Amino acid sequence: MSPGTVETDKLTGKFNLKTIKDLDVRDKRVLVRVDFNVPLDEAGKVTDDTRLVATLPTIRYLLGQGAKVILMSHLGRPKGKVVERLRMDEVARRLGELLGKEVQKADDCTGPAVSEAVKRLRSGEVLLLENLRFRPEEEANDREFAQKLASLADVYVNDAFGTAHRAHASTAGVAELLPAGAGFLMEKEVNALGRILTAPAHPFAAVLGGAKIFDKIGVLENLLDQVDTFLLGGGMANTFLLAEGHKMGDSLRDEAHLDFVREFLQRARAQGVAVELPTDLVISQDNSGKGGIKVVPSGEVPAGWRALDIGPRTVERFTQLIEKAATVFWNGPLGLFEQAEFARGSEAIARALVRPGLTSVVGGGDTLAVLEKAGVLDRVTHASTGGGASLEF
Ligand code: 3PG
Repeated sequence: MSPGTVETDKLTGKFNLKTIKDLDVRDKRVLVRVDFNVPLDEAGKVTDDTRLVATLPTIRYLLGQGAKVILMSHLGRPKGKVVERLRMDEVARRLGELLGKEVQKADDCTGPAVSEAVKRLRSGEVLLLENLRFRPEEEANDREFAQKLASLADVYVNDAFGTAHRAHASTAGVAELLPAGAGFLMEKEVNALGRILTAPAHPFAAVLGGAKIFDKIGVLENLLDQVDTFLLGGGMANTFLLAEGHKMGDSLRDEAHLDFVREFLQRARAQGVAVELPTDLVISQDNSGKGGIKVVPSGEVPAGWRALDIGPRTVERFTQLIEKAATVFWNGPLGLFEQAEFARGSEAIARALVRPGLTSVVGGGDTLAVLEKAGVLDRVTHASTGGGASLEF
């Protein structure tokens, strides 16, 4: 994780990060890597500005110091090409509304026009560069590209916690070329996650779900040494149920990793770590639910049907286990939560996380959206803006 040295203080679980407060930013040109990879609707409007709001403390601090603030981010996965609907214009507009001041927008991230725009930038002004991933050099962590980005500024701040697990030119490359420090969001995230991973209160339960099964398989391994119980739902659980020999019909699953799952279950058993799978499932014939919805015991999903949420018995069991836990980490919804019919399981788990004395850390855009729907987003101990990043951490 960049930038700076990241050593843990064993007593507090805090990370000794070099931060923005350790840097001289007064009247300087400050290049800030943010994670403005936000969802957009059909019309290109930002539908969830949580990640923008989360970086306001860093931006406001820099503006208060008279810095010239140059922001840069990726948006989506344009794979090194210009994709019109992934331009940063709408993001700049929304950020301007949130900041209450104009956010200038460049149409590229390096080059003569960008250098000119930076030259014209005055103290207390903000410029947002174009989507970094329009350039293949970004993901390749190309040295020359990092140098071009670095040449725009005197100081570098990394506040892109959501992208901290990617070693790209704007995250890893630039950090080596300029005086660098972590922004307030990065600092807050790293400390909150550091606390649960270095000195978690037990029982420690990890709730994992979501559709991106492959992304989370490595994380299961890492958490195996930390947690007492896994509570699995969503596509992740389907693969586990399949590995245990259950009939899963047309449910989303990752058959390429069945052997991994079987071996993981054996290791968990040997280490005394419980892996709780759904005992019942809400199923339907398609994602719309229009063809009918049923609750069936796990393993009795007929062909042509798919699991879209955990069932009521599973909700009860998972809720009881969360009641007994002292620490819960949650990443990934347990069903197709975007639709009310399949959101009950995820929302019940969200509500169970709000309890005095429970340390609850939740990561990932979709999972935060569940918290928001359940009305508990500001009532968990830490809501992380990073999904992949919080898992990899
Ligand atoms: C995220 O949303 O997880 C981060 O912005 C990283 O995006 P990526 O998975 O496309 O690298």
